[in-house]
Amino acid sequence: MIKKSIEEALNKQVNREYYSAYLYLSMSSYLDSINLKGFAHWLRVQAREELAHGMKLYDHLIAMNGRALLQPIEAPPEEWKSTEEVFEQVYDHEQKVTAMISALMDLTLEKKDYATAAALQWFVTEQIEEEGNALAILEQIKTVGDVPGHLFYLDHHLAKRE
Ligand code: FEO
Repeated sequence: MIKKSIEEALNKQVNREYYSAYLYLSMSSYLDSINLKGFAHWLRVQAREELAHGMKLYDHLIAMNGRALLQPIEAPPEEWKSTEEVFEQVYDHEQKVTAMISALMDLTLEKKDYATAAALQWFVTEQIEEEGNALAILEQIKTVGDVPGHLFYLDHHLAKRE
C-alpha cells in the first residue's frame, strides 16, 4: 500500500501534468490564431504527451493500490506577446516540472518507497529531453528573429513533429 504522503504528492503531480497539457494547448491555440500552424502543431503534440505523463502517474497510483484524487485544473493564460515569449515560458515551465520531479524523488527516497522511485526515474530522464527541446526551439527563434516572415522556415519544420 502506498504511503499517504506519497499518494498526495503523486496526485499533485498528476494535476500539474494535466495543467501542462492545458497550458500547451492554450499556447497552441494562440499560435494558431497568428497563423503559425507548425508551432501550434508542435505544442498540440506536446499537450498530448503531457496527458500521457499524467496517465503514467495515475497508472502507478492504481498499481500501488492508491487512489487518484483528481483536483480542479487551473486555467492557463490565453494571450502572449510573441512566439519568443511563448517558448520562454515553455522552457521556464519545463524547468519547474523538473524541480517538481526532483522533489518527488527526494520524498520517495526519504520514505523508502523504492517502487515509486523506480517509476519516477522515467520522468527524470524524460525531463532532460523536455527541457532540451524547449530550449532548442527558443534558441532557434532568437537566431532567426521573432518576426512572422522569418519564423516561416521554423514553422514549416515544426509542423513535421509526429
Ligand atoms: Fe510532463 Fe513536459 O513534463
